[in-house]
Amino acid sequence: METLLEQIDRAHLPQHVAIIMDGNGRWAKERGEDRLFGHFHGVQSVRDIVEASAEIGIRYLTLYAFSTENWDRPQAEVAGLMELLVNTVRREVDQLKKNGIRLHVIGDFSMLPPSARQELSEALDLTAENDQLHLILALSYSGRWDLTQAFQQLAQKVQTGAVRADSIDADTISDHLSTRDFPDPELMIRTSGEHRISNFLLYQLAYAELYFTETLWPDFRRQHLFEALLDYQQRERRFGKTSEQLTT
Ligand code: FPP
Repeated sequence: METLLEQIDRAHLPQHVAIIMDGNGRWAKERGEDRLFGHFHGVQSVRDIVEASAEIGIRYLTLYAFSTENWDRPQAEVAGLMELLVNTVRREVDQLKKNGIRLHVIGDFSMLPPSARQELSEALDLTAENDQLHLILALSYSGRWDLTQAFQQLAQKVQTGAVRADSIDADTISDHLSTRDFPDPELMIRTSGEHRISNFLLYQLAYAELYFTETLWPDFRRQHLFEALLDYQQRERRFGKTSEQLTT
């Protein structure tokens, strides 16, 4: 019996997988624990998914770790999550460096405490030479924030004459998003049974295949990722064309 991993066609992997890691709070509640307990266990899933993605040959992995809306959660949860994120990055950075993984962070950093910004920027520098897997943490991120900052940059360029308004096309907009250095995700996974994009990569997910699973994030391991990849490989990506046009 072929394992899930053996069934995956390595030649047709998505280059970029984006994940909304949802369900930590419910996972903790089911166990009568505090929400932070769920986030803490979610880090084990992050580690397993990052490791498996690097091993299988995914080039870009974006994880939605903290949304701009998450700042409105109870102060203790926000502080605990920030601490967990920064501590995890600090603890794992040597391993990332050793395994060829380059860390990137996208989001509104003006909201982050200065100490967190400092820690993250050191981690970014330490892994800057790596190129096997690009691990992109969406932190204090939202799709609308990203589009807004892109339009602000473009409006300024139009004002100074650096860009002509009638020359702006879809690529110009992509080039001003925080994801300008990465290809668009071909696969977006959301855990915990919610069927929403929740202000994630709004522009970048235009053609992504969406995969939803009931599994809560702290239970999501490489086998679940492999299931999502197999499901992706069974789909036909038409980009608005017909099946016949794709085969001829
Ligand atoms: C959503 O679950 C999850 C988050 C808001 C935080 C995700 C962060 C981690 C898993 C830690 C990641 C660490 C690194 C280094 C990337 P929820 O709290 O909304 O769950 P619920 O919907 O069940 O309430």
